[in-house]
Amino acid sequence: MPTYDVIIIGAGPGGYVCAIRCAQLGLKAAVVEGRETLGGTCLNVGCIPSKALLHATHSLHEAEHNFATMGLKAAAPEVDWAQMQAYKQDVIDGNTKGIEFLFKKNKVDWIKGWASIPAAGQVKVGETTYEAKNIVIATGSEPSALPGIEIDEKTVVTSTGALSLPSVPKSMVVIGAGVIGLELGSVYKRLGADVTVIEFLDALTPGMDGEVQKTVQRMLKKQGMKFVMGAAVQTVQTTKTGNKVLYKLRKNDKEDAVEAEVILVATGRRPYTSGLGLEALGVEMTGRGQIATKHYATSVSGIYAIGDAIEGPMLAHKAEDEGVALAEILAGQKGHVNYGVIPGVIYTHPEVASVGATEEQLKEEGRAYKVGKFSFMGNGRAKVVFAGDGFVKILADATTDRILGAHIIGPAAGDLIHEICVGMEFGAAAEDIARTCHAHPTFSEAVREAAMACGDGPIHS
Ligand code: NAI
Repeated sequence: MPTYDVIIIGAGPGGYVCAIRCAQLGLKAAVVEGRETLGGTCLNVGCIPSKALLHATHSLHEAEHNFATMGLKAAAPEVDWAQMQAYKQDVIDGNTKGIEFLFKKNKVDWIKGWASIPAAGQVKVGETTYEAKNIVIATGSEPSALPGIEIDEKTVVTSTGALSLPSVPKSMVVIGAGVIGLELGSVYKRLGADVTVIEFLDALTPGMDGEVQKTVQRMLKKQGMKFVMGAAVQTVQTTKTGNKVLYKLRKNDKEDAVEAEVILVATGRRPYTSGLGLEALGVEMTGRGQIATKHYATSVSGIYAIGDAIEGPMLAHKAEDEGVALAEILAGQKGHVNYGVIPGVIYTHPEVASVGATEEQLKEEGRAYKVGKFSFMGNGRAKVVFAGDGFVKILADATTDRILGAHIIGPAAGDLIHEICVGMEFGAAAEDIARTCHAHPTFSEAVREAAMACGDGPIHS
């Protein structure tokens, strides 16, 4: 019977990172993955392919809207959808093969197939049973279905189908104004589809800072995206010309419908744990279908879980950090994740990024805080790239000036946020950021000016 120190089930960002770190720390590790390629949802049908389509369509947007202003003359851009899909696939292949290379380099074995856990200490793949001192479940999540809506991944799709549609649809209804809905809705809007987003709540991107939510919605509306807010989707009916989404407005129970060629259901994801045999093992679950853990240990000795399958935000980087922390714990070290400093990014244009507390949370906690805000209108570099329409907002403790959270809408927000993350990790005050020299001209000067706005005030507003 082949024996390992650690067998990890699932080769997504949580699992493959955990495996590599285990190997680096001297543990004999293997990963079981049933997909044809490594990298899980993120690399194959999630973060990476969606970013390829977002980049391609943003380039189209630039050509259509900003080239003339910059004195660039080019023939009217056309979309070669098959080539855009091929480009996306190349990006996926490059990334997934990269993980294969890293496995070889670190001597991590890839066991191909779907795993189950017949007993603690055993992992079964096909007819072979492997022995492992430790088993890590890193099986991720899958799109959660809406009752009454049948997904065919052709015209009624989840994010998986939406990344590989056979052609650009003329119209699309997106159910759910969360991260997936807004990112993929943006892709198809830029490609010329008529996009309507239907959202149950009154604000989009649940959990984000209220001011950010309003600004994002205003900006996306300006780009032509339509929104029906406060509407509970009831069902989807197939019509001769496409599909019809029936919804009920929550405020007055009024029923209405929108027709579209393609319907994207983006109403959240749920942990993917079926087929592992967890029930027979007696692994404790939370009320929300996640595996219950304490420092990544499940209720069954020797079995651990990380990533989307356990509590916390379903984010690749949260899973990666848990993978590293767990590897360190298994190697006898003190693994740790700071859950107060996990950034969230939405890759729309402009990008949206946040970390730490929102203003709403601070109010609810009754905490005394100050707000330092700076508009990208006052940032020279942002004007160069037509991106003056956003802001950096830093929330700091009213007495100590310690940074409690930050929210950015604007160019490269997903990168800028990390200055704040590092600051928060070090327990920085806003003044620490404000007194740090920032290169000119960069977008990051807007972060500094927001930090200055927590004190004596910014220079450029
Ligand atoms: P989400 O939880 O972010 O948003 C789902 C939205 O659907 C919510 O606003 C919810 O109110 C709405 N909704 C639910 N039922 C509805 C109904 N019947 N009618 C209308 N609206 C309804 O989920 P999403 O966007 O599907 O993403 C899933 C997970 O993947 C999230 O945890 C997200 O963080 C992660 N993800 C992260 C990305 C990133 O970091 N850039 C990119 C893509 C996904």
